[in-house]
Formats: sequence, C-alpha cells, structure tokens
Amino acid sequence: MRTIKFGIFGLRRGSTFYRNVMMNNGEIVAVCDRDTSKLEDAKKQVGEGLATYTDFDAFINHPGLEAIYLCNNFNQHAPFAIKALEKGIHVMSECASNSTMAEGVALVRAVEKSKAIYTIAENFQYMIFNREMKRVVEGGTLGKILYAEGEYNHPIDFYSAKELRALSPYANHWRNFLPRAYYITHSLAPLMFATGASPVRVTAMPVYDPAPADSVGGIVRGPDRAAIITCLNDDDSVFKVTGCAAFGAHSNSYRFCGERGQIENVRGDLNRLILRYNAWDKPEGKEEFNEYAADWNDADEEMIKQTGHDGADFFPVRAFFTAIRENRPPVFDVYFATKMTSTALLAHRSLLERGVPYDVPDFRREEDRVKYENDNLTPFVAPDDPNYIERWSHPKFFTPEEASEYERIIAQVKK
Ligand SMILES: NC(=O)c1ccc[n+]([C@@H]2O[C@H](COP(=O)([O-])OP(=O)(O)OC[C@H]3O[C@@H](n4cnc5c(N)ncnc54)[C@H](O)[C@@H]3O)[C@@H](O)[C@H]2O)c1
Repeated sequence: MRTIKFGIFGLRRGSTFYRNVMMNNGEIVAVCDRDTSKLEDAKKQVGEGLATYTDFDAFINHPGLEAIYLCNNFNQHAPFAIKALEKGIHVMSECASNSTMAEGVALVRAVEKSKAIYTIAENFQYMIFNREMKRVVEGGTLGKILYAEGEYNHPIDFYSAKELRALSPYANHWRNFLPRAYYITHSLAPLMFATGASPVRVTAMPVYDPAPADSVGGIVRGPDRAAIITCLNDDDSVFKVTGCAAFGAHSNSYRFCGERGQIENVRGDLNRLILRYNAWDKPEGKEEFNEYAADWNDADEEMIKQTGHDGADFFPVRAFFTAIRENRPPVFDVYFATKMTSTALLAHRSLLERGVPYDVPDFRREEDRVKYENDNLTPFVAPDDPNYIERWSHPKFFTPEEASEYERIIAQVKK
C-alpha cells in the first residue's frame, strides 16, 4: 500500500486526525493554521520535521504534497478546495462543501476540470449503528424504504463558559452565525447512503427558543434550537432531518421505515438497535421484535476503535486514500456533497419563509448550475451586505460591547 503525502488545514478538529491518517499509511508532511500554538502542538505530536504554515497558498505549494484535509471554518471550504484542485491536489473537505449556492456550482466545475479527487469528509454514516442499519436496509427484508428520519441533536449548556469556549473561542466565530439547517450532513448523509435516495424538494420549519438572557450563550448564540426539514426524494420516499438540533437530550438517532418493517437505534443508547416486522411479513429466523447491538464486521476493527467519533472518523480517510491509490471516483463525491449542501441552504430559505418548498438542484445538470451560479446569498456577512440572508427565524445581533463581554467571560476559563 503506497504512502500518501498528506497535509491538514485547520488544527482544531484537524488535530484529531494525525493517528487516523498514519494508520491508513498516510504521511503527514505539512499542516497549516494561523494559530501558531496549534502548529507547535502539531510538531510535538507528528514530529519536529513537520512543515508548518500559517498561509494556505504557501501550504499547498509544499513540495510533494499530494492530498489535503480541509478542516478550517465551516463556511470557507469551497474557495480553498478550488485552489487545491487547480494545483492537482486531492481534497477531502469537512462539511459543508460550500456555503453559498454559487460556490457549489463553482466547486462542481472545478472538480470536473481537475485531475484530482474531491470527497466530502462526512463520517456519521460510518457510525457502527448506521453501518448496521444500512446492511439491514440493503438486505431487503424491510422492503422499499418509504420514510426515514435523521436526528443530529447536540444541546449544549448555555451557562458553561468552558463548553462555549471549546466550540466558539471568540464572539465572531462561525458557530455563532450558523443557521441550524446548514449543518445538515450528520443527519442527512446516513439516510442518503443507506437508501440511495436523494432529495428533490425540501421544506423546513424553525424551532425558536433563545438561550436564557443571563447565560453566556445568551450573548452570542442564535435563537433557533433546530430546523425540522422534510425532503421529498427522487424515489418518492420522504426524509425528515434536523440539521444540528439542540433540544431534549443529546442523541444521534436514525430510523428507516420500509414496506414490511423498520429499524432504528435507541435514543440515548446509540448502539441498541430495534428491528421490527409486522407478523405477516416476518422473515425466517427473525422475531417481530428484535433488539441487539451491532458489530463492526470490518477487517480494520482494531484501528477503527482507536479513532474519533467512536470509530467513524477512520472511514472517510480510508475511503479517500483508496480512491487516490486506485484512481477511482469516491462514493461521497462532489455531487453527493453539493446535493446535501443545496438541501441545507434551501431548507434554511424555506424556514425563513415558514415552510415554502424549494426544488433541490442537481449540479450534474447545466440548467441547475445556470440557475444558481450567481446566487451568493449568505448569513456569514454583515447585515448591510447586499448578499446577506437572515441567519435565524427571528433576528438576533450582538453589539461590540457584548462581543467583548463574551470574550472576557470565556478568557477567564482559560486561566
Ligand atoms: N464531521 C465531524 O464530526 C466534525 C466535528 C467537528 C467539526 N467538524 C467540521 O470541521 C471543520 C472545523 O471545525 P472546528 O470545530 O475545528 O472549527 P474551529 O473554528 O474550532 O477551527 C478551525 C481552525 O482553522 C483555522 N483557520 C481557519 N481559517 C484559517 C485560515 N484562513 N488560515 C489559517 N488557519 C485557519 C483556525 O485558526 C482554527 O484553528 C468545520 O467545517 C466543522 O463543521 C466536523
């Protein structure tokens, strides 16, 4: 298995991948982050010979660099991906692939022009229980999947300055401007991967509940707790997904309902699966009610268990490196990535209009590209920018004084 000369851009989540890359026979030759303390830490973990950069253009000019992992700000992946692809460097990008519709079109065009491979680094479809649900769905005993749910639910303690510092280390951090619908991949990818269905029309509703005014989160966090997104798919099935939700108790929950049965994982006990059939449709060897835990069923199980997100982080790297080594298209290609992101961006528009439906484009089609190639609407610019779109169902802004107050509070935690 040949070594791949690899670089990582963005060293918060990116720094959790060193071991994962090495286990997949990648050699980390360069890293890039404008925070120089993270570069020093990278050298300690990877080796003193590691090349470090604060500037992306210098980073992708590193001699011999073959492939990179984009793990920078959520809303800034596409322009960096395009630069790397133009240099023939393979790209594995964190979610989301693009933060405007126009960027999605530009990204697809750049991938088609480049000899390099592009993949999205989505990992939740590889969680042990999601792999098992895919296996059962593909086994066919549930019949055609008619309806599926994906819930990525990550509430935080709005009074915990420590937790807020870890996720949003400064007031103008992207997480403080992120519409709930935009973070869709963790809830949607497992459904698309298991069923092969793809959204064609989307509608969404907000769940509005601002953080308490006296909490740290109350200063900077957006006031929506979730986006409840419904997708009609190209095979007539329907998905319901949450984007990144923050209600009830923490959970990643998925459910697939077919013509003859259903499978879901138990909320709060992720790897307990419940597989149920109707009495008249029960396959041989199964009960009407089956409760069990999944196995990895993978030759790399020992390595998988050593990586983040309970092993799910191993798979995107393995799949990316296999695609590079065998020079074949990745499963999670740019069309899959931009389909998820278009669903997210248009779900957000639907939510702002209280449920008005949108057709989801397929950027394989030129007419869909033309429709969106100049659509630069984004919530990540200032409200007086002509491309600004509202961030949440009800406007919320913080003043420079409030931003300073937030940073003063979280700075105290560091000491
Ligand atoms: N798949 C998952 O399970 C998962 C989990 C966490 C985060 N993510 C994704 O990973 C990405 C990064 O998330 P994070 O939590 O690490 O974000 P973060 O904001 O904490 O970290 C981003 C890092 O990139 C660096 N950076 C940003 N722009 C830069 C630039 N122009 N030049 C140099 N350095 C730059 C920052 O200094 C920072 O260290 C996001 O897209 C996020 O959605 C995915």
